[in-house]
Order: sequence, then structure tokens, then C-alpha cells
Amino acid sequence: MIVRKTAAELEKMRQSGLLVWTILEELRKLVREGITTQDLEAVAEKMIRDAGARPAFKGYYVPAAGAKYPFVLCTSVNQEIVHGMPSAKRVLKNGDIVSIDTGVEMNGYYGDSAITLPVGEVKPETVRLIEVTARALELAIEKARPGNRLSDICGAVQEHVESNGFSVVREYVGHGIGTQLHEEPQIPNYVDRKSENPRLKEGMVLAIEPMVNAGRPESQVLPDHWTAVAKDGSYSAHFEHCVAVTANGPWVLTRP
Ligand code: MF3
Ligand code: CO
Repeated sequence: MIVRKTAAELEKMRQSGLLVWTILEELRKLVREGITTQDLEAVAEKMIRDAGARPAFKGYYVPAAGAKYPFVLCTSVNQEIVHGMPSAKRVLKNGDIVSIDTGVEMNGYYGDSAITLPVGEVKPETVRLIEVTARALELAIEKARPGNRLSDICGAVQEHVESNGFSVVREYVGHGIGTQLHEEPQIPNYVDRKSENPRLKEGMVLAIEPMVNAGRPESQVLPDHWTAVAKDGSYSAHFEHCVAVTANGPWVLTRP
């Protein structure tokens, strides 16, 4: 069942969404050659606690990993797609890209968002990967309107990514969000004719999160049981926003 939110609930989700945005904007300023992903983790955790919120990822049980995720951020560098873990040993260097994904729970409601940033100067092809992924998310957000179907969102991502010569990761998907981090429906970044295709209705909130590989779409999980990487070692980008379906069109909760 897809839970629909009232206007009052959306206002609460808005507060969680804006906190996530504030954190990511702070981290955006800090990302540069020489900083470690653990440095980013420490800043984010302090901001979440200071706001009186709770990190959504830290302690979250993920069945596929058979364990609770231990950090407030996922920091996925270069060929890492998602679920990269912050580390004091991971020093960002010129030419890297880093996806920063975080979520919070405040007053019972979740927010979840991700951005991918270049470190220093990256190759033109890598700039294009980041731009195409960000644009795919915007095109998908535009489809989050009452009367459209879920496949309009999935198809918008897939079409933009593949027409630009990149590929969409199949093993990880977006999701509904509300009083749980992960609610129905699952939101693939491709049109999956076998999965349900609900009509979008007012009050639904969708965490749309394209994960795009520069090369082949296949992924694998590293022996740490968490880090998902592109099998062919190509760079991967990831952006995510929480979007409410409203009578006035899409409302992106995770940016002002
Ligand atoms: N944005 C991701 C998601 O919504 C990150 C979750 S990391 C986890 O699935 F470890 F908490 F699962
Ligand atoms: Co998410």
C-alpha cells in the first residue's frame, strides 16, 4: 500500500527535507582535495544532533547486508555506486567524484537526499556523467504529478540516461518515504514491465534517486558487504530528492 500524506504531514516532511538539504549544502562547501570522507561524516552527524534530529541511516537494518548500517552518510567515491562507507583513510583527491547521501528523521518523518560532487578538476566525460544524472532526476521530478503513472518517472530517467550513452543501475531503486525511510512503491530508474505501475496521487511522497554508470550497468557488492561498485570499474553518479505529488505539481521537499 502506498501511504498518502496530509498537508500537515507534508509540512513535517518539509522540515526533515530542509535539514537534509542544509547538511548537503554544508558538505558541498567542504569537499576538496585532502578532506576525508570521515571528516564529512563528523560534520553531518553534529549537524543532525544539533538540530534535534536522528540520522536515518545509522543503525538502519539492511537485509541484503544482514547488518545495521554504521554511519550517518553514504560516501561513494568514483566507481562506487551507493553505500560507500566514510573512512579516515579515504582521502579525496583531485579528479575524484563523491556521492554524498544522507537521511534524517525528525518529528516522526524522514527526509533523504543525495548529491554527487567533483573534487577539484575532473575529466569532461565525468562532468557530463554528473550533469546527465542530475538532469535525469529533474526530468523525473517533473513527472511527479497526479494522474501520471510511476513508469513516467522511471521512463524519464532511463530515456535521458541511455540517450546520452550512459547506463542505469538495476539493483538499487528509489522508494516511497514518510514515517519510514523505505515505503512503497519501489522506484526503479528504468521501465520494468513486470512491476506494478500505480497511478500517482496527491499526497504520495517519492524518493527518486537515479544511479548512473558511465559504462556497463552491472554492479557488485564489495567484501565489506556494503559498498556497491560498477563491475566494469567505470565512474558512477547518484542524485536523490524527496518529492511530494500535489495538486499544484511536484513539490521537492529536500530543497528550498
Ligand atoms: N538513500 C539510500 C536509500 O534510500 C541510502 C540508504 S543507506 C542505508 O536507500 F544503509 F541506510 F540503507
Ligand atoms: Co533513498
